[in-house]
Amino acid sequence: MQHQPSEPIGIFDSGIGGLTVANAIIRALPNEDIIYFGDTAHLPYGEKSADAIRYYALRIAKFLLERHCKMVVIACNSASSAAYRVLLEFFKGQALFVNVVDPLVESVAARRFHKVGVIATKATIQSGIYEQQLLHLQPGLEVRPLATPLLAPMIEEGFVHNEVSQVVLESYLGHEQLRGIEALLLACTHYPLIKPEIEAFFKNQVEVFDSTDVVAAEVKRKLSEHQLLNDRRRHAHRFFVSDYTPTFEHTTRIFYREEISLEHYAMW
Ligand code: DGL
Repeated sequence: MQHQPSEPIGIFDSGIGGLTVANAIIRALPNEDIIYFGDTAHLPYGEKSADAIRYYALRIAKFLLERHCKMVVIACNSASSAAYRVLLEFFKGQALFVNVVDPLVESVAARRFHKVGVIATKATIQSGIYEQQLLHLQPGLEVRPLATPLLAPMIEEGFVHNEVSQVVLESYLGHEQLRGIEALLLACTHYPLIKPEIEAFFKNQVEVFDSTDVVAAEVKRKLSEHQLLNDRRRHAHRFFVSDYTPTFEHTTRIFYREEISLEHYAMW
C-alpha cells in the first residue's frame, strides 16, 4: 500500500445520513480532505438484501480508491454489517478500511454491562453482527437487538423532537425486547440526531452510545499508526451522490452542521 498523508479519506453511506460520521471525522481531523459518496439511488440500504448491499459497496469503494483515498470509511451500519469483510478481502492492501460497527462494539464491551439493547435498520439487525461482535468480546453479555425501520425516514423528514417522533419512539423503545437494558447502541447513521430524545425516554437511566465520535477516534488512531495523518490544512471536501434531488441537498442540513453542495455522479 503506497499512500501519502495528503491523500483524502473516502467515506460512504447509503445516502446523506452518513454525514453525521463525516462531520465527526472532519471535526476530529480538521486537516483531512474528505470525499463523501452517498448512494442515494439505492437508499435505503436497511431494506436491501446483503448481496445487493455488497454489490453496491464494492463499486463505491472502487470509485473512492480510483480517487486515491488512503482510507475508506464505511459510515453506514447496514453496509458495514453486510460488506466490510468482503471489501477487506477484495481490496486487500490497497487502502485502510474502517467500519462503524467495531469501534462502537469495543467501547460498549469495555464497560462490562450485563444487558444491552441495539436498535438499527432491518438489514443490520438481520445480519446479527452486533450480537456476534459483542459476544465475541464479552461472552455472556445479554444482547437485545430490535429493528426500528421507521426511525431513519422519520428523521430524514424532519420529524424530530415533536409529537410524531415521541409516539414512534415510545412504541419502539417501550418494546418488551428492550426491558431492563443498561445501555443502548444506536446502530444507524441517523440516530445520533434523536439521541437526546432517546435518553429522555429512558429518563437518563440507560446509557446511550452512538458511533460518531468513536469512529472518528478510530480513523485518527489508524491513520496515525500508518503515519498517514495529514499535517496541512487544505479544505477540499467533495460530496457526491448517485442520484440528485433538491430534497437530498436540503436534507444535508439536518445531518451536517454546515451548508454543503452535492455533486451528482451517475455511477449506476
Ligand atoms: N445508513 C443506513 C444505516 O446506517 C440507514 C439508512 C438506510 O437504510 O439506508 O444503516
